[in-house]
Amino acid sequence: MQKSQIPNPKAQTAIAPGKIILFGEHAVVYGRPAIAVPVLQVSAQATIEPRDDEHVIIDASDLAHQYDMRDAPDDDPIAMIIRLTCMKLGVEPRGLTVRISSTIPIGGGLGSGAAVSVAIARALGKYFTTEHTEDTEKINKNSVISVTSVVKLSDADISALAYEVEKLHHGTPSGIDNTVIAFEQPVYFVRGKPIETFRIARPFTLAIADTGIAAPTKIAVGDVRRAWEQDRARYEALFDQVEKIVDKARAAIESGQVERLGYLMNDNQALLREMGVSSPEIERLILAAKTAGARGAKLSGGGRGGNVICLVNEVTRDEVERALMKAGAKRVIVTTVGGKQ
Ligand code: PMV
Repeated sequence: MQKSQIPNPKAQTAIAPGKIILFGEHAVVYGRPAIAVPVLQVSAQATIEPRDDEHVIIDASDLAHQYDMRDAPDDDPIAMIIRLTCMKLGVEPRGLTVRISSTIPIGGGLGSGAAVSVAIARALGKYFTTEHTEDTEKINKNSVISVTSVVKLSDADISALAYEVEKLHHGTPSGIDNTVIAFEQPVYFVRGKPIETFRIARPFTLAIADTGIAAPTKIAVGDVRRAWEQDRARYEALFDQVEKIVDKARAAIESGQVERLGYLMNDNQALLREMGVSSPEIERLILAAKTAGARGAKLSGGGRGGNVICLVNEVTRDEVERALMKAGAKRVIVTTVGGKQ
């Protein structure tokens, strides 16, 4: 593998969207399907800039945190994605500033960690390959250096790299976050199976309300695992019921029966509550949304805090948004799935 650097490369930027899980979180860790869609209103951005020295400086401006990759602890997710991506590309990470910013709330179930990883991997890929074709040819002609062995990253490569980092966030990630974010498409996801996208016959609108409580996925996933270990039969039965809901939801989305999604969201939420991953704040927002006219509502992602998704339409969206804010939501994003976001 060629380990040389490309001289004088240009800065490169890449972005990655947030995501929501529509149906099937937690059960997806145990081999059941889940449905997730990208949310383009929020995103993580990474810029790779050349430096005159050998250092790799990570500049996470949102967190007011700047550090040298050499000083990062082993479990630093940003250092890890840089190392893994460079290894995959066949280049040495040196002489780089990696700037990261994000509008995705951390710990909110909107995929902030995976989006940061995807944005960095994609920006590094661009930095070391696509934009340098001309430079590469010139350099090759002069026989100064050969960079022909630099690998071009596919979406599947980027998803796989981000998955390695997801394991830091919690030990047994299903892989749904990195998949939906790297492919930027609605996915019907089953752990370990090839990605399946599906048709959204009629757009539908969701209000995504932030409880303002950052809840690490790792804790909720760990608690579910312990509960499952203590009573496998009960939890497997809950996961089986989730699977039925996910398949009905896919059929409803593919056939344009959008109204059915409301009932299915409520049923999925009842099962998540039974799994022990809801919280008083989540329940308060769900009640407020439904009272204001939402046809269905549920938590999205790991739970315990994070975001709630509520099915709205043109008539109910403003009223639901107001009710959510009044009930304590820190912010509400209205997104149309399958339509212009
Ligand atoms: O909290 P998030 O957005 O990372 O979603 C986690 C989804 C879970 O099903 C709870 C875990 C997983 O790995 O799929």
